[in-house]
Amino acid sequence: MTPITDIVWKRLLLQAEGLVSGYTNRVSNAANLSALLYQELPDVSWVGFYYLEGDTLMVGAVQGKPACVSIALGKGLCGRAAETGKTLRVGDVDSFDGHIVCDAEARSEVVVPLFKAGKLVGVLDLDSTSMDRFTRQDEEGLEALAQIYLTSF
Ligand code: SME
Repeated sequence: MTPITDIVWKRLLLQAEGLVSGYTNRVSNAANLSALLYQELPDVSWVGFYYLEGDTLMVGAVQGKPACVSIALGKGLCGRAAETGKTLRVGDVDSFDGHIVCDAEARSEVVVPLFKAGKLVGVLDLDSTSMDRFTRQDEEGLEALAQIYLTSF
């Protein structure tokens, strides 16, 4: 993974480490990490975790509006990122065939799949009401934060 050079992300990742340090409860850690991202990242309208149950992603801790409860593997951005195992960053969600609309105001989105010991456990999803909100740096920062979260598993 590329080292994070951005100062905002460096600080955020230190805060994330501090929040989960000594705690392995995955619900507690997801709650605090979603709150951290929502508070600290500008122009983010939604942050949430989905967990794989069978072949369905089920919503977990979120910040923002209530969201879709379940997403089938392969469906939407979340299901696609989960299926491919690759972070999906979309600058204009309307251009993504199969995008699942949970919030009609969302314009861009990034989804990071969560793998523990090679097994998919869920995804971390962020939305923004601005087009092209998420950068390569955000993608790398979120992937690093996902690794911090995965110490809970
Ligand atoms: N837009 C997502 C659904 C989840 S919400 O954005 C919270 C998708 O296409 O998978």
